[in-house]
Amino acid sequence: MKRLSIKAVLSTLLLLLFSYLAFSGTLLYFGKTGLVMGITRNTLRETHFWVALLETLLILVHLLINRRLFLQEWKHLAARGRSPNTRSGDSIPASQEAPHE
Ligand code: HEM
Repeated sequence: MKRLSIKAVLSTLLLLLFSYLAFSGTLLYFGKTGLVMGITRNTLRETHFWVALLETLLILVHLLINRRLFLQEWKHLAARGRSPNTRSGDSIPASQEAPHE
């Protein structure tokens, strides 16, 4: 349960940080000089860079703590590729699903 809470916080954080990156990136793209919405271009660039670095690190942590599910998805894709009888939309068999935490 605790692990699930950590995952939820991390996923939300990733989404929030990405929203900031999309917002600041758009401002950087359209505001070519001087102040952009009262913020200096340099501040925007600096924060865009540091948040991007944090986002990249957290994406790696996110992949690491969800590696079991990620690997299952790849195994599922590989199995579908081998079997001519597999229909699209088939889900991972319950026996192979990651146990609930
Ligand atoms: C919709 C999303 C995004 C938009 C529109 C966007 C846009 C931009 C723009 C326009 C620049 C150039 C800034 C300049 O002129 O100096 C830039 C730089 C950069 N972006 Fe993004 N960006 C986005 C998302 C991201 C993401 C997700 C990452 C990484 C996780 C990222 C990492 C960077 C880095 C490292 C730079 C260089 C910063 C620097 O010049 O110091 N960006 N971005």
